[in-house]
Amino acid sequence: MSRQRPPAPAGLSARGATLSYGRTPVVEDVDLDLPIGGLTVIVGPNGCGKSTLLKAFARVLKPVRGAITLDGKDVHGYRGREFARTVALLPQSPIAPEGVSVRDLVRRGRHPHHTLLRQWSPDDDHAIGFALDRTGLGDLADTPAGDLSGGQRQRAWIAMVLAQETPIVLLDEPTTFLDIAHQYELLELCAELNDEGRTVAAVLHDLDQAARFASHLVVVKAGRVVAQGTPHEVLTAARVLDVFGLACDIVPDPLTGTPKVIPHTRRAGTTTGPANGA
Ligand SMILES: Nc1ncnc2c1ncn2[C@@H]1O[C@H](COP(=O)(O)OP(=O)(O)OP(=O)(O)O)[C@@H](O)[C@H]1O
Ligand SMILES: [Mg+2]
Repeated sequence: MSRQRPPAPAGLSARGATLSYGRTPVVEDVDLDLPIGGLTVIVGPNGCGKSTLLKAFARVLKPVRGAITLDGKDVHGYRGREFARTVALLPQSPIAPEGVSVRDLVRRGRHPHHTLLRQWSPDDDHAIGFALDRTGLGDLADTPAGDLSGGQRQRAWIAMVLAQETPIVLLDEPTTFLDIAHQYELLELCAELNDEGRTVAAVLHDLDQAARFASHLVVVKAGRVVAQGTPHEVLTAARVLDVFGLACDIVPDPLTGTPKVIPHTRRAGTTTGPANGA
């Protein structure tokens, strides 16, 4: 490593991480910490490397250079179950196995907690019941996962991740397919997990939602982290233009005061000034 890097704190960290699926790196030389007990939100344009980063944190993908560490130790040095009891990942496009019910799917989240000596226990039933309840799927528990709507299926995956009861939860676009009320319910759930002391990192596309819920906002552009900090520090009109190519105003969210993006669309009649009289 050529330059001085800050030491990795507790929790998940990337140091000089370069990630690649083939010869060409898609994420390059990233230093990033997911603050313990924080709600980190990662934003950036399609194809910039957000899912790739999350996969590396969940050790689905091994860096070609640099390292991903958990509590200072390389994630690939952990035993499978031990890591799965600590870090859970909701992938962007999970594929449900054929013919399993919602309850079966959620039950899979408990596998890391089982050993030869410790099989099924009341803790498992409790975790599954709790996860189904928190995601509003109690009535659909015996429904085949393949028969669910897109949003219901997304909630079933989230329930599986909850049932895993890990201190660190990584969610790749958890609000996809959810109607607006369920989107906010899910984001509130992330905040509640935070309140319980769990560390959450999520990829989101809605910048207003990101600004409302993130304690730490990370912006990725073309495989590099270009900004991180509080939503107020990070979400500026200049940055939205630079990273997304979208001209906008940033106004305070009337309810929360957090930054809110007002795009300069053609309908607002301008691409240079604030929207008027809409
Ligand atoms: N399995 C793969 N094999 C080869 N290339 C891949 C693979 N997955 C992703 N890529 C490429 O890596 C780059 C980053 O992809 P990634 O999925 O991390 O983007 P993203 O930021 O999550 O985008 P989106 O917002 O569309 O989900 C893209 O150019 C993509 O084409
Ligand atoms: Mg993605």
